[in-house]
Amino acid sequence: MDERPRLTVVVPTYNEADNVRPLYERLAKALNGVNYEVLFVDDNSPDGTADVIRELAKGDKRVRLMVRVGRRGLGTAIVDGLRAARGVYAVVMDADLQHPPEVLPSMLKAAEETGADIVVASRYMKGGGTEGWSAVRRLISWGATAIARLLVPEVRRTSDPMSGLFLIRKDRVSLEGANPTGYKALLEILYRNPQAKVVDIPYVFRRRERGKSKLGLGTMVEYLWHVITVSRPVKFAVVGAIGTGVNEGVAALIMYLLGNYTAAFVGGIEVSILSNFVLNDLWTFRDRRSGRWYHRLLRYHVMVAPAGLTIFFVAEILARMFKVYALLALFIGILAGFIVNYTLSSRNVWKVLKQS
Ligand code: GDD
Ligand code: MN
Repeated sequence: MDERPRLTVVVPTYNEADNVRPLYERLAKALNGVNYEVLFVDDNSPDGTADVIRELAKGDKRVRLMVRVGRRGLGTAIVDGLRAARGVYAVVMDADLQHPPEVLPSMLKAAEETGADIVVASRYMKGGGTEGWSAVRRLISWGATAIARLLVPEVRRTSDPMSGLFLIRKDRVSLEGANPTGYKALLEILYRNPQAKVVDIPYVFRRRERGKSKLGLGTMVEYLWHVITVSRPVKFAVVGAIGTGVNEGVAALIMYLLGNYTAAFVGGIEVSILSNFVLNDLWTFRDRRSGRWYHRLLRYHVMVAPAGLTIFFVAEILARMFKVYALLALFIGILAGFIVNYTLSSRNVWKVLKQS
C-alpha cells in the first residue's frame, strides 16, 4: 500500500464544493489501471469544499487533502501541492472540469514514451482549442501568450505557457525558488528549469458548468507584472539603459575635467562595464552564477571586450573624423556595441545550470 504512486493529481480548489465529486468520479474512470493519488489543495474554502473531500477520502485511500489556512493564491497552492506530491509524475489540473480528466492518460503516456520532463496540455496547437470563448477573451489569451513568449525565452518550448494543465516528472523538475505570485505556476517552472525537456499535447478547454471563475482582470495585471519581473531580456535592457547612463555620465565628467574625449570614452566604457557586471551578476543572471565572482568579472571583461572595442572605435571615428559631438558619438557607439554584448555575455558568463 505504501508503494509510491505513478501519478499524483494535484487539484487546487477554492469554492468548488459542487465540482469535486464529479471530478473525482471522472478521474477514477479515466485513470482506471493507473496507480495514482489525488491531492486537493484547498484554501479553507467557505463553501465547505474540504468537507466534501474528507467525505471522499473516507471511502478511498487515494484521496488526500491539504488545507491551507492563512495562505491563499492559485500559484502557491500549485507549488505546495507539487512539493507534497508522492507520485513519480505529478499533474496539475483545475477542479471545475474545464480540464477534461480524460486527457490525463495521454499526458502520462507522452511523458513515458518521449522521456519528457514536462508535458503541457495545450490549447494552441492542432487539435486543441477553447469552447465557448468570445472573440475578446480569445484575443486577450492569445496576446498574453504572445507576450510571455516574447519576453521570457524559456517558455518558448511550449505553445501554451499559460496552461493550467501540465504534468512534471518530479525527480527531473526543480521547484526550488519557484514563487509564483500570480497564477502562472507553469511559466515559473519553465523559467526555473531551462534544461527540462518539454512536450505539448492538444486538449480543448471546456466551459465551466458549476461555480464561478476566480481569475479576473486583476489576475491579468498581476500576470503581466510577473512576466516582466521574470523576463531576462527586460532585465538586460534595464541594465543596458543604466549602463548607458553611467557611460555617458562618466564620459561627460572626464570631458569636463580633462577636455579629452579619448580619455572620456575609455573611462566611461570601463566604469559602465563594471556597473553592468555588478547589476547583471546580482540581478539578471543571479540564478546562473557559477565559480568565484572575480573569475566571472574577468570572464565578463573578456566577453564584452569586442563590444567595448566596438563602442570605442565607433565613438573615436565619429568624433575624430566626422567631428560628431563626443557624447553623441559615444551614444552611437554604445548602440553598436549592445547587440554583440547581449549575445556573448548571456551565452558565456552565466552558464545554464546543468542538471545534477
Ligand atoms: N487553492 C486555491 N487557491 N485554488 C484556487 C485559487 C486559490 O486562491 N484560485 C483558484 N483556484 C482553483 C479553482 O478552484 C480551480 O480549481 C482552479 O484553481 C482554476 O481556477 P478558475 O477560477 O476556474 O480559473 P480559470 O478557469 O479562469 O482559469 C484556468 O484556465 C486558464 C486557461 O487555461 C486556470 O487553469 C488558469 O491557470 C489557466 O490559465
Ligand atoms: Mn476554471
